[in-house]
Amino acid sequence: MDQLPAASLAPDSPQGYANHLAGLIYTQTMEIIEGKATNVAILYLMILLIPIYGVYGVYQYRKSYIDLPYVGIRPGLFGSWKAGYYYLHNSADVVWEGYQKYAREGRAFVISTPKRWLVFLTDPDQIAELAMVADHKIGFYEALNMKNKHNRVAEPTLGDYINTYHVDVIKSQLTPRMASILPEIRQEGNVAWKDTLKLGPGWTKVGIWEVVIQVVSRSANRCFVGLPLCRNQELLDIFRAYAIRTNEVVYMIDLAPRLFQPILEWVLLKRFRLPQRAMKILEPVFEERKRMREELGQERWDAEKPNDSVTWIIDAAMKKDEHQQTNEQMSWRLIWLNFAAIHTTSMSTLHILYDLAANPEYVNPLREEIISTMDKHGGYTKEALNNMLKLDSCLRESQRWNCVVSIVISKLTMCDYTFKSGKVPLHLPKGTFITAPATATHLSEELYGPDAHIWKGFRFSEMREKMTNPEESSKLQAAATSKEYLAFSHGKHACTGRFFAIYQLKMLLIYCLLRYDIRLPEDRHGKRPDNRYILGRRSADIGGSLEFRERKEWNELKTRWGEFDEEED
Ligand code: HEM
Repeated sequence: MDQLPAASLAPDSPQGYANHLAGLIYTQTMEIIEGKATNVAILYLMILLIPIYGVYGVYQYRKSYIDLPYVGIRPGLFGSWKAGYYYLHNSADVVWEGYQKYAREGRAFVISTPKRWLVFLTDPDQIAELAMVADHKIGFYEALNMKNKHNRVAEPTLGDYINTYHVDVIKSQLTPRMASILPEIRQEGNVAWKDTLKLGPGWTKVGIWEVVIQVVSRSANRCFVGLPLCRNQELLDIFRAYAIRTNEVVYMIDLAPRLFQPILEWVLLKRFRLPQRAMKILEPVFEERKRMREELGQERWDAEKPNDSVTWIIDAAMKKDEHQQTNEQMSWRLIWLNFAAIHTTSMSTLHILYDLAANPEYVNPLREEIISTMDKHGGYTKEALNNMLKLDSCLRESQRWNCVVSIVISKLTMCDYTFKSGKVPLHLPKGTFITAPATATHLSEELYGPDAHIWKGFRFSEMREKMTNPEESSKLQAAATSKEYLAFSHGKHACTGRFFAIYQLKMLLIYCLLRYDIRLPEDRHGKRPDNRYILGRRSADIGGSLEFRERKEWNELKTRWGEFDEEED
């Protein structure tokens, strides 16, 4: 154990103090050279590193400054931290302020976030260009990777942007098979509603987030991992914890100085060993499937293989290198699918339930539409779901009003880039972080009219009912993206799971609306719970409650289309 030298005794005059200090430094330096005072050496090194690190941080931050109108606090000395801190607590207001000031002219503006300057586009044409531009000019994964480079939270999938084949699995396997997977997702969702909502006679107050996340996790995982694993509570909890924890932690880690990021990453995430625990459960499933694939041979495997993401991931991985075929790598794909799907869909479900509880006049017209459309199409078919315009419209409006991701198409310029579109020319240097303000765009009166600030559930169905061109009408579907509707982002990296998400949301809502009455607790006075702003991100209030009651009409409805499986009741 290193000891402080005797010279550390208190001096009795200023000169004595200087001599004493010089003596102390000399003695300690000699001890460090002789290898006797390792602790002191580390202390000196840290004292030296902290200002160097601070200066480097300020240099990096200043280097990323872009000469555009800024909103929020003007950063002076230490201002980057002040401005960043301000942004964390007021992100929605700051972005909205910038949008109101500059959107009319179509000018971009810049905001200081804790780590970097962020350019916000307001011109829808420039937003469309950002969404469509080639990745080698303005990169999507590169931006993600840059933010995650030092904390490696989402590696190897999110960070490993060369091998994002799980994204293609959704596009090329899940979406085209939608009609065949819908009955299973529906069934799982229905059973999960019934299992999770434990209602007494009359109205029962329910902490709604826990119910929603359970119902969404189970029904989505019926398609991701199949039965019985989609009911394995341990696995669902791990998927969920990883998604929620990572979502929260990734921002916190990004805020911390790089030096401390690995420590924070370990304390906040890695020590829970969530991926490893998921892999332990998933490994036997991958092994079993691989064995089945080998035994059946290609032709029979293609004809008989289970219709779920485990199968599609194996098929995709087999076309990749050996590393991608390991159980660990394939398990990561399922973890990442859950990461992308569960929190987002659960938040959307929570928003729409709050919206409908706060606007109860929409509920009966929705029920009427659901019943008449299912009567017409013989139950829960894909066609029936596509034809529920009012339900679709409420979902789109709910996401317009409260999109889950409030800034989207976050990218990084890979070279100096001049926009070809837009009212005001925009040139950005290489290394600029750039994004689109989804929430602000959705509340723009220029784009959505004078009632943009009102929740109008049938806003889009009323427009669609007047349209004669089906192609035009389909552009207003809940899953359709545009430069003015960014809830699922837009362009090259728009959400690939959005069709799945909307079908799933519709099926969960249909069951919920047909079986239950829903209302806000009395003390809310008809007002839905306010959103929460955490670390610059917005979320529905996950602590909120709703009241549920069984409807007597359910007895007739549950057998009406002969579709509700026995297990459900
Ligand atoms: C209502 C639910 C959902 C919402 C609101 C949502 C929203 C989004 C958004 C905004 C993005 C783009 C992120 C950005 O620009 O920074 C995105 C990307 C993505 N989403 Fe979703 N999502 C939802 C459900 C799902 C589901 C169910 C899946 C999987 C089945 C999924 C898979 C993905 C994937 C793989 C990406 C990355 C696309 C790429 O890398 O090009 N999402 N999502």
